[in-house]
Amino acid sequence: MSTASAILRSVTPGGPSGIAASAREVTKAYGVGETRVTALNRVDVDIHRGQFTAIMGPSGSGKSTLMHCLAGLDTVSTGHIRIGDTEITDLNDKQLTQLRRDKIGFIFQAFNLLPTLNAIENITLPMDIAGRKADQAWLDQVVSTVGLADRLKHRPAQLSGGQQQRVAVARALASRPEIIFGDEPTGNLDSRSGAEVLDFLRRSVNELQQTIVMVTHDPNAASYADRVLFLADGRIVDEMHNPTADAVLDRMRRFDGKRTS
Ligand SMILES: Nc1ncnc2c1ncn2[C@@H]1O[C@H](COP(=O)(O)OP(=O)(O)OP(=O)(O)O)[C@@H](O)[C@H]1O
Ligand SMILES: [Mg+2]
Repeated sequence: MSTASAILRSVTPGGPSGIAASAREVTKAYGVGETRVTALNRVDVDIHRGQFTAIMGPSGSGKSTLMHCLAGLDTVSTGHIRIGDTEITDLNDKQLTQLRRDKIGFIFQAFNLLPTLNAIENITLPMDIAGRKADQAWLDQVVSTVGLADRLKHRPAQLSGGQQQRVAVARALASRPEIIFGDEPTGNLDSRSGAEVLDFLRRSVNELQQTIVMVTHDPNAASYADRVLFLADGRIVDEMHNPTADAVLDRMRRFDGKRTS
């Protein structure tokens, strides 16, 4: 660990232990009557602070729904979600928006960078909008971890896909959120760029004690995580610690007669 990250470790709120987010008895149903779909069925899960958690499972198993409910992007039908110490199922829309802004970082499949802003302006944009000043030491650490110090003045069109997604990851990290959620963050990248981004996510957990939850279809991507949760039919049916790509692939093959996506 570098000196900078040792210093940052000592000032990171919460430290590496504890629960960053949790779901209790969470059910999420869409539609009514014949079109009713139970996307999540009494899900209980704890997301550990300072860990990289991957969510896997067949298409339609409820991965995105679980992530959206944990992140306060979607409401639950019944049950409870906590982010840190906050029970989010009790919050009104305004409180929820504020909590998402202050405590959560997002990385989506499409990078969602603003084309007219350069890399560093994109990274600090959410804080600029919130009227908050970036912690410069932290920002320097994020930028050096992201490995884009010499690209900060480049606009998205002047960056590769992997570099753009690393900017999006740096943007999610910059405000030091309690937790970062990614839905297929490497889904649009070739394998080399995907590996760059996954390496960076891994380093942000190791060196910055970031908490990350990532939905993925890719056993190789899941192998960067500390823990993989497997969903099927809206339930968590299995989990794996310190996964390898082969072990994850084997587990996925057991779903639905070899269907893996
Ligand atoms: N807005 C919605 N309205 C109705 N049904 C929905 C809605 N969103 C999701 N569903 C249903 O809920 C179930 C879970 O969907 P979800 O998007 O969470 O799956 P997923 O595991 O992320 O799948 P994929 O791997 O294909 O992205 C699916 O059966 C889906 O059709
Ligand atoms: Mg999905």
